[in-house]
Amino acid sequence: MGICLSARIKAESPFHTGLNSRSVSIDGGDSNSSSRVPSTTRSEGEILQSPNLKSFSFSDLRTATRNFRPDSVLGEGGFGSVFKGWIDENTFAATKPGTGVIIAVKRLNQEGFQGHREWLAEVNYLGQFSHPHLVKLIGYCLEDEHRLLVYEFMPRGSLENHLFRRGSYFQPLSWKLRLKVALGAAKGLAFLHSAETKVIYRDFKTSNILLDSNYTAKLSDFGLAKDGPTGDKSHVSTRVMGTYGYAAPEYMATGHLTSKSDVYSFGVVLLEMLSGRRAIDKNRPSGEHNLVEWAKPYLGNKRKVFRVLDTRLEGQYSMEVASKVANLALRCLSKDPRFRPSMSDIVKELEQLYQQSKDSGNTRSHASNRPRPRRRSAGDVANRNPSVAYPRPSASPLYAK
Ligand SMILES: Nc1ncnc2c1ncn2[C@@H]1O[C@H](COP(=O)(O)OP(=O)(O)OP(=O)(O)O)[C@@H](O)[C@H]1O
Ligand SMILES: [Mg+2]
Repeated sequence: MGICLSARIKAESPFHTGLNSRSVSIDGGDSNSSSRVPSTTRSEGEILQSPNLKSFSFSDLRTATRNFRPDSVLGEGGFGSVFKGWIDENTFAATKPGTGVIIAVKRLNQEGFQGHREWLAEVNYLGQFSHPHLVKLIGYCLEDEHRLLVYEFMPRGSLENHLFRRGSYFQPLSWKLRLKVALGAAKGLAFLHSAETKVIYRDFKTSNILLDSNYTAKLSDFGLAKDGPTGDKSHVSTRVMGTYGYAAPEYMATGHLTSKSDVYSFGVVLLEMLSGRRAIDKNRPSGEHNLVEWAKPYLGNKRKVFRVLDTRLEGQYSMEVASKVANLALRCLSKDPRFRPSMSDIVKELEQLYQQSKDSGNTRSHASNRPRPRRRSAGDVANRNPSVAYPRPSASPLYAK
């Protein structure tokens, strides 16, 4: 469930209103088929009249979530709580639980302009994009002081829960599923960076990658998204926002934002998926708090890379593919953004690696070719009993289809 709020870098960017509009749609295809309506500055009123979005009343959403019942909370973040609700597919009217379609309702609970700005940026960006790897925004509510967002419900919740939540409804993801999720999320980012769209996402992290029933990854949360540089500009200058542990070092240092800042964050998430460790974890032994700093020396070394790999994945991968994924993460994490690959190159590489993993079937024998058994680190305490069976997320009443 949501990252520690103090880890979220919050600063106001005085010139960013989130009002630059663009319209991109995809017809069931993948990341490379899109059409673009040129970006124009539009008023808030125009944005909220977007024909793709339903304007809900507050009472609609109160009924749909059964008065925002605490037991229907799907998660909590810096913006507010996310509730599970039910609406009629055609009329969008609230329905009884178990009938109609399930929605996720995010309710802003913070005061002030920053919250409104993030809410508006979400409506502005996500409301106009349609892509298989972006969460669908169904509508919004803007009534008095109320600010809510209504999304398609993602039955398997966030990648964060699947990687880090233990002893609950969430089972550790298998190697193949991790590659599938990494590939899906990469396609979402590649779409945002594409020439037609040119958006920098700025908040790529495991809690913003949501999973549908087939583990198709979709990005949510466009509150911090920004239009990329135009003309001959190399970057956008902005105050630093995002989440510690994921933000690129040059962006943190200078406020210069490029699509390569997202690539760095992608590298952090890829590393979290490989290792099963959080980007920042103060509960680890000293020297291991910062995942990138700790793991970097091992990532490019074929004989040492196994030290980084999640022990829960043992027997599921070939060292050859795992080393290549680790090497890809290392390149994404290059200090110099020019050495980081583009998201479209990352998609190509991951497509091959995912295919190789699928073709190799059960790779238990490959994994046993490791140089020597992985040492347990103090941080592996939670993994000591590999036979623990984690109930599937679908066992949770909240994540039931
Ligand atoms: N459409 C959805 N379907 C199912 N669960 C969702 C959906 N949207 C959000 N959630 C759940 O709610 C949690 C909170 O989401 P939210 O985006 O508000 O915060 P966050 O990403 O955890 O943190 P932050 O505010 O720092 O971005 C998610 O991690 C996820 O578990
Ligand atoms: Mg989020």
